[in-house]
Amino acid sequence: MKVEALSPTNGDYQLKDYSDTYHSFDWKEVEREFSWYETGKVNLAYEAIDRHAETFRKNKVALYYRDASRNEKYTFKEMKEESNKAANVFKSFGDVEKGDRVFIFMPRSPELYFAVLGAIKLGAIVGPLFEAFMEGAVKDRLEDSEAKVLVTTPELLERVPVNELPALKHIFLVGENIEEDEKYIDFLSKMESADPHAQIEWVERTDGLILHYTSGSTGKPKGVLHVHNAMIQHYQTAKWVLDLNEDDVYWCTADPGWVTGTSYGIFGPWLTGTSNVIVGGRFKPENWYKTIEDFGISVWYSAPTAFRMLMGAGDDVVKKFDLSSLRHVLSVGEPLNPEVIRWGMKVFNLRIHDTWWMTETGAQLICNYPSMDIKPGSMGKPIPGVKAAIIDDQGNELPPNRMGNLAIKKGWPSMMHTIWKNEPKYQSYFMPGDWYVSGDSAYMDQDGYFWFQGRVDDVIMTSGERVGPFEVESKLVEHPAIAEAGVIGKPDPVRGEIIKAFVALRDGYETTDELKEEIRQFVKKGLAAHAAPREIEFRDKLPKTRSGKIMRRVLKAWELDLPTGDLSTMED
Ligand code: WTA
Repeated sequence: MKVEALSPTNGDYQLKDYSDTYHSFDWKEVEREFSWYETGKVNLAYEAIDRHAETFRKNKVALYYRDASRNEKYTFKEMKEESNKAANVFKSFGDVEKGDRVFIFMPRSPELYFAVLGAIKLGAIVGPLFEAFMEGAVKDRLEDSEAKVLVTTPELLERVPVNELPALKHIFLVGENIEEDEKYIDFLSKMESADPHAQIEWVERTDGLILHYTSGSTGKPKGVLHVHNAMIQHYQTAKWVLDLNEDDVYWCTADPGWVTGTSYGIFGPWLTGTSNVIVGGRFKPENWYKTIEDFGISVWYSAPTAFRMLMGAGDDVVKKFDLSSLRHVLSVGEPLNPEVIRWGMKVFNLRIHDTWWMTETGAQLICNYPSMDIKPGSMGKPIPGVKAAIIDDQGNELPPNRMGNLAIKKGWPSMMHTIWKNEPKYQSYFMPGDWYVSGDSAYMDQDGYFWFQGRVDDVIMTSGERVGPFEVESKLVEHPAIAEAGVIGKPDPVRGEIIKAFVALRDGYETTDELKEEIRQFVKKGLAAHAAPREIEFRDKLPKTRSGKIMRRVLKAWELDLPTGDLSTMED
């Protein structure tokens, strides 16, 4: 297939074309920009905030925050003080020490960011939870991580089964009129009287920083542990790929419950001393364009599903706003359709730059960076210092234009450190030859561009969110009417994929639309709205292997009218 490349829109970019040199890039060059290169001890929160508060950036706005009821800004100096206060509050009232897990379960607000940074300053491991999680999802994560401290709101507390979480010692509540006792602490009132000076806990570069739970095709969500060393790549990709410069106003639309919302919603922008815009509340096309106009956003990082929704809202909406501040637009999370790139050229007169990475990889790896030609539909090329390849199931590198496993050579700085309490799972990502195997299938063309083809496993990407079919199936079979359930991702023009559930009922239940709705609500209330199946189909029986494993591959083939392939392992 012939594709037309889009050349860079003119600009002076931080990453020049490096095609000849990238294999020799040495990440140590980046380390030398931080003082910990000499001291050996590090703390990401210091590098992201305090460091700038000691320079000309002291009074520069670090955080612009806006939602329906708040409109605030904080300079780097104020962020330093607020995060110091949070650190002191956690230390005095939550007993937080290095290595403790501090989980944060609340909607976006300035306090969420103070809490994240404050906990990191104490050397604690932060666990951000998406605000839409319901009880089952919250419990799994707090239980597995043995979180000692939770920061949440009185409303969300209802979804925390506190009595079933013996490790959870202290709960900080962010809200009004909090009744306190030993366990429940009023975060805001404690913040008011806290000391704005704090002692930073200097840690090793391999000490824990953040724990993101993410889904695989089997088992419960797993805790991907990242360490302070990852900041090298957060910082450098914020320069190279986000192309953040001193005067930029940056907006990442992702929630910190997902890795994009931390690596590039917190760490990357602040490590580079950039003004960072955070907006709370729900998605609405008008509000989004207004955000760009009001703050003068110059660099914008979002997701294909959001761009497709904006595209669906029509071009007339765009014309109502002045978007001339925009300079650089990026996307992550799922394949970025060429059609969306063409739409972006039309309405913004800018290229949308696709980037590829995963929760496990901690930071961007394969990207369209601003100085290179973009081939619409391709994820781009590996960044300097990163070697990517397509390998077969034995670990052999395949030549260009052959589809296979997308793999990365071990050794990039933001690589996950382990899977929490599950070292075998961590090891299972690797193949001989020091390859990290992503679980994505792709091919590389003759020019070294990578093209995403799909997931090798059954993981579903819906509206940019990663959902494990097993988690949804497990919730479904908890419903009294359901005997068996199989869940697949079904292609969808706006959401990438939607969740479709095939369900076999227990005797005595009728296949009604009311029951479908009830099942949908059941998953929504038990897990999260984005995990609830949009489509449910009743079947008398589900295809299973003789060992009883639901064959999602067969369900998918039925759904898409594809050949079912080898059925030799199927029962009857
Ligand atoms: C998918 C999100 C196509 C992929 C940062 C990967 C993509 C999974 C792209 C990780 C892209 C991410 N094109 N697919 N540019 N970026 N993906 O852990 O399947 O939520 O394995 O991390 O998203 O999702 P995760």
